[in-house]
Amino acid sequence: MNTSIYRPSRAVIIGTGAVGTTTAYTLMLRKRVSEIVLIDVNHEKAVGEALDMNHGLPFVGGVKIWAGDYSDCEGADIMIVTAGASQKKGETRIDLLKKNAAIFDEIVKNITKYNKEGILLIATNPVDILSYVTLKVSGFPVERVIGSGTLLDSARYRYLLGKHKEIDPRSIHAHIIGEHGDSEVPVWSLANVAGVALELDEEDKEKIFDSTKNAAYEIINAKGATFYAIALALDRIVTAILQNQGAVLNVSTLLQDYNGVSDVYLGVPCIVDRTGVREVLNLPLNEEEKALFHKSADKLKSEIAKLDI
Ligand code: 2OP
Repeated sequence: MNTSIYRPSRAVIIGTGAVGTTTAYTLMLRKRVSEIVLIDVNHEKAVGEALDMNHGLPFVGGVKIWAGDYSDCEGADIMIVTAGASQKKGETRIDLLKKNAAIFDEIVKNITKYNKEGILLIATNPVDILSYVTLKVSGFPVERVIGSGTLLDSARYRYLLGKHKEIDPRSIHAHIIGEHGDSEVPVWSLANVAGVALELDEEDKEKIFDSTKNAAYEIINAKGATFYAIALALDRIVTAILQNQGAVLNVSTLLQDYNGVSDVYLGVPCIVDRTGVREVLNLPLNEEEKALFHKSADKLKSEIAKLDI
C-alpha cells in the first residue's frame, strides 16, 4: 500500500463524561472517522474509556481510539468539546454558565495551540453562549466554530410530531430555533410534510412544544443525564462536515441581521459542509415567531454581557 496517500480523519473529543463517551462510541460504531482521541482532565478516566472501546474493535474494526492530550489536536479535522459541568435536577442550562465559561478559556487556548485549521464543534451548555466564547477566544473564522444548537431540540420536536401524526420523523420538516434552552422557539408557521402544512389544534401544539422544550428536564429527572440523542446529533454534524454533504442542520452560529438579530450565537437552519457552516438559511418567520426569536436573542445577549470576554 502506498501509505503516503493515506490520510486518516481524526476527531478529538474533549470531555469524557456521558456525552463525550457516547459520542465517541457512536462515531466508532458508525465508522465516521479513522481516529478518535479522548481528552479529559481526569486522564485515567479517558484511558479507561478508550480501553473499553478498544476491546470492542474485534467486533467493529477500522478505528483507532486512544486517550491523548492536547498535542493530538494537531492535524485533527474536528475537535468536539463536551467538557464541563452538566445540568443537575432543577438546574437550567444558563445556571452552568459561570462554571463552564471559566474552563472554556483554557480548553480553547489548549486546542488552538496545536490546531488552527480544524473545526470546533461545541456541545457543552449553555451551548450557544459557549460557542460565542469559543469564537472570541479561538480567533477562528465563524464558519469553523459551530454549536450543536437546536439540532437536538428539532429532533425531539420532529419525533413528537411524527408520533402524533403517525409519520416517520425523518419526513417531518419542522424547526426549533433560538436558544438551546428555555427560550427556544417552535416555527409552527413553516412545519410541513412534503410541503403540506402540518395541521394541529392549539392544545396539541402546546403539548408537543412543552414536551420538546422540557425533554432534558424530564430525562434528567428520570436518569440523571441525557446522552444518546445528543451523541447522534453530534454524529450527524460530524458526518455532514467530513462527507462535505451540504446538509441542512439547525446548528448554532453567529447571526448577522437574521430576522433583525445580530452578534449572538443561536440555533437556525444552516448548510453544513467541509468548510463548516457554509450558509445560514433565513427563515421567513411570522411576527409572533420573530418576537419570540428576538426575546431569545436578548436573553442570551444579556448573559454574554455579564461575561468578561
Ligand atoms: C439536552 O437537551 C441537557 O442540553 C442537554 O439534552
